[in-house]
Amino acid sequence: METLTNDKATLEVQLSTQQKLIANMREELGICKEHKAMAESQSESRGAHLLELKAQLEDAVLSLEAAERRMHDGELMRRRLHNTIQELKGNIRVFCRVRPMSSLEQVGADPDIQPALDFPPSDDLLSAGIILSAPSRDGAATLSKHVFAFDRVFTPEASQDAVFEEISELVQSALDGHKVCIFAYGQTGSGKTFTMLGSEEQPGMIPRSMRQIFESSQGLRQQGWELSLQASMLEIYNEEYKDLLSSKKLSGSNKSTKEGFGSQQPSGEIKKHQVVHNPDGSTTVSELTVVDITQASQVDLLLAQAMEKRSVGCTALNEQSSRSHMVFTLRLEGVNEAKGKRVSGVLNLIDLAGSERVKDSGAAGLRMKEAQAINTSLSALGDVIVALGNKQPHIPFRNSKLTYLLQPCLGGDAKTLMFVNVAPNIQFAGESLCSLRFAAKVNACEINHRKKG
Ligand SMILES: Nc1ncnc2c1ncn2[C@@H]1O[C@H](COP(=O)(O)OP(=O)(O)O)[C@@H](O)[C@H]1O
Ligand SMILES: [Mg+2]
Repeated sequence: METLTNDKATLEVQLSTQQKLIANMREELGICKEHKAMAESQSESRGAHLLELKAQLEDAVLSLEAAERRMHDGELMRRRLHNTIQELKGNIRVFCRVRPMSSLEQVGADPDIQPALDFPPSDDLLSAGIILSAPSRDGAATLSKHVFAFDRVFTPEASQDAVFEEISELVQSALDGHKVCIFAYGQTGSGKTFTMLGSEEQPGMIPRSMRQIFESSQGLRQQGWELSLQASMLEIYNEEYKDLLSSKKLSGSNKSTKEGFGSQQPSGEIKKHQVVHNPDGSTTVSELTVVDITQASQVDLLLAQAMEKRSVGCTALNEQSSRSHMVFTLRLEGVNEAKGKRVSGVLNLIDLAGSERVKDSGAAGLRMKEAQAINTSLSALGDVIVALGNKQPHIPFRNSKLTYLLQPCLGGDAKTLMFVNVAPNIQFAGESLCSLRFAAKVNACEINHRKKG
């Protein structure tokens, strides 16, 4: 009996332990069920969230596509508007730039180096008018005043920055696939090379254009455009083309311009260059070095090299650069694979030979030949621009090597800008008058053209 009582007590203890265990396990089961329910509801809501995210993603893709379409349409619209504005401003424009007196010229108050130029302050001619005081023909005692108006007149204080602001629109046109020519015309020492090339501290239009093109190419890339740039530089001296980049030590990859023409020439060798205008609007110059440009700084090296080359061979005539035209050509090819579009623009920047007349009747031989060649090509250029402005049926492109080379980039949809550079001093007034008259002739035809439009 006692054993039984003990057994019962033990069993009761065991039972109560088991009961506690069961209670614990029930509790755990309850918790597990709760967890499970929670997990289920979470996964449900996750699933719903996932669907929501998917829908949002689809919306985002759609609106991105719409935005891209709008951006593309917007870009097309911008191009059209930009071109309309450029056409309204005139596809042929003339800017006048007066250089400052040099420190040497400023020394003393020599009456011979009075400023010959003045700028009308009146509203209608502000930044567009220029007054030249030149000795009258009958005698040097009196000065006669000549008033000119251009699209823009830059006073000696105008910085390279201010000048480039006006040029950058044309660089944009070249990026948009147009052909652009920018000339610097004027007597030797009037600031042509300063305007085009500038100095290291004050870079001119060529380096600034390159910088703008490289900056824009970043944005274009984001819109799916791939831009490739090719530069060449030549000189026209005595009505002959001369490659300014034909040295072996080039910073970029060199190649001959197009199929069918020979390859790189060793420096110093004289080659005859043939200019061919292709049906697609491009121009091929045989034997001409063409350099792929991948960095803006490459152009600085090329320019330095060209400048070096341009001065080579000047012995007695220590300023050969003033006796030749320098033509810097940049071809811009833009391809947008996604949109199946392609544009090809050309930017020509031309530092013309000095426009001064050779008064020295004793000038003979080479000097005379040079003077005649310059005379011919500068007046041919003027004639071509005037003929284009007047919409004449015949444009005399073939009258000079310069106009023949640039033919596809002059007229039609192309944009032309002529800088007339003048020196401020009175002793250059005669030459300045000639330069301004040349520019006025080029400008007048465009004013007529604009009135018609
Ligand atoms: N806008 C200007 N500001 C400062 N210096 C200038 C300016 N234009 C020309 N010069 C300086 O005048 C001199 C003659 O100019 P340059 O460009 O060589 O003339 P060009 O090429 O017409 O012969 C150079 O020393 C040049 O640095
Ligand atoms: Mg020069």
